Amino acid sequence: MNTAIRKVTTSGKADHLAILVIDNAKYESSLFSKQELEFINAEIKKKNKLITINQYGRIVFLQLIDTDKDKKYKTLEKIRRAGDSLCSAANKNGIKEITILSDNSKENTLAYAEGLLLGNYQFLKYKSSPDTNSLAKVNVLSKDTDAEAIKDLATVCEAVCKARDLVNEPVASLNATGLAKAFSTMGKDAGFKVTIFDKAKIKNLKMGGLLAVNLGSIDPPTFTIMEYKPKNAVNKKPIVLVGKGVVYDTGGLSLKPTPQSMDYMKSDMAGAAAVGATMYAVAKQKLPVHVIALVPATDNRPDGNAYTPGDVITMYSGMTIEVLNTDAEGRMILADALHYAKQYKPELVMEFSTLTGAAANAIGHYGIVCMGDCDEKVKNSLNESANNVYERLVEFPYWEEYDELLRSDIADMKNIGGAIGGAITAGRFLSKFTDYPYMHFDIAGPSFGKSNDSYRGKNGTGVGVRFLCDFLKKKASAK
Ligand code: BES
Ligand code: ZN
Ligand code: ZN
Repeated sequence: MNTAIRKVTTSGKADHLAILVIDNAKYESSLFSKQELEFINAEIKKKNKLITINQYGRIVFLQLIDTDKDKKYKTLEKIRRAGDSLCSAANKNGIKEITILSDNSKENTLAYAEGLLLGNYQFLKYKSSPDTNSLAKVNVLSKDTDAEAIKDLATVCEAVCKARDLVNEPVASLNATGLAKAFSTMGKDAGFKVTIFDKAKIKNLKMGGLLAVNLGSIDPPTFTIMEYKPKNAVNKKPIVLVGKGVVYDTGGLSLKPTPQSMDYMKSDMAGAAAVGATMYAVAKQKLPVHVIALVPATDNRPDGNAYTPGDVITMYSGMTIEVLNTDAEGRMILADALHYAKQYKPELVMEFSTLTGAAANAIGHYGIVCMGDCDEKVKNSLNESANNVYERLVEFPYWEEYDELLRSDIADMKNIGGAIGGAITAGRFLSKFTDYPYMHFDIAGPSFGKSNDSYRGKNGTGVGVRFLCDFLKKKASAK
């Protein structure tokens, strides 16, 4: 269930309140008795950042934030995290509805609400007796924050939660067909076009990479095309998003060991979830930007007919690939989608995938590994958006010298590079299927949390959605 949020212009005497106080700014002291003010001051001295004042019939939370003087985006992140702490406190107190009282800038107020909304996410579908959060409604009382901005924030948070739901869903209830259907539903709800290629069509097109990975599966693959093309689009050439849709990655015949490596591999479609949910948010907000998303989807399993280490596969582009590890399956299916994207003559292709353990090992869940060849201006803009939403980018080299690691004795290329630069050789592999400005985002690290991380939660995080939404919104408003 999504947490409802709206702008209000007054608050009642019995409403639970959350007051955001930045850098010890003055707050509405008339709300408190002399005794309460003394208590608040004592708590501030003790450096308590979330002060709870239990008034007759209601609770007032006073939340204190010290800004980061150098970097505004760091302060925003602190505020989101504060929003998440408020969320826990509200739920602990059984609060159903809370009013944020904020004299702060629109950005700060929205970040606070964002942390609260995202922190309140739960995946309870499979719980027989769910421990449902009490908090269901948030009111925003802030003169500098308009209702439109609050609505957009709600849409983006809803999209993040949709992505999380998809990632958290096990493969038994979400195979490639199910994933495609979920995108279809999103398209109907938000107003974008969804076309699904079935196995026959994929065979017809000779998408050899996707078909090879699918050989070990009893479920058919899908290839989903989502398109949002408003009449007032600011861009002539589309932005194309591509998402890895491996609904479960066992490694195939190059089987992953369990328990360590396979347990969370239902999340190997987090890239697909991110691009699909972004389409939902873009269309719901009616952003004037032409965006297309492509999702190749299948599970990767060992079976009688599974593709094998040693196989040579002819890809959709016509290139031949010597498979030396069937666990490097993401690049096999993405290559076909990247080749498919060429027909759109895109302005930029942004591809999101849980592609390599190497990326996750290099930087953990703290950021997104990226690489690519779009121009510096676009890279700066991407970085700015990534920082804004605190889904930070770490750019890895995209040097052609790494290509020699992918040389095959018998085919055009191998599907693995070897011991060094695993995230980079994966990116270089994909580059061979592009002829447009391209950025690769490896989200293997941040897509799935094994422990709770504030408003990002545990399990599926929905990483990529807020970043893409910020970037596309900026694009939509550029003259
Ligand atoms: N889906 C995995 C990558 C992954 C690892 C995602 C950990 C999330 C967490 C991917 O398909 C994979 O198995 N990659 C291999 C590539 C290797 C065989 C070249 C890897 O990283 O080990
Ligand atoms: Zn794999
Ligand atoms: Zn994978």
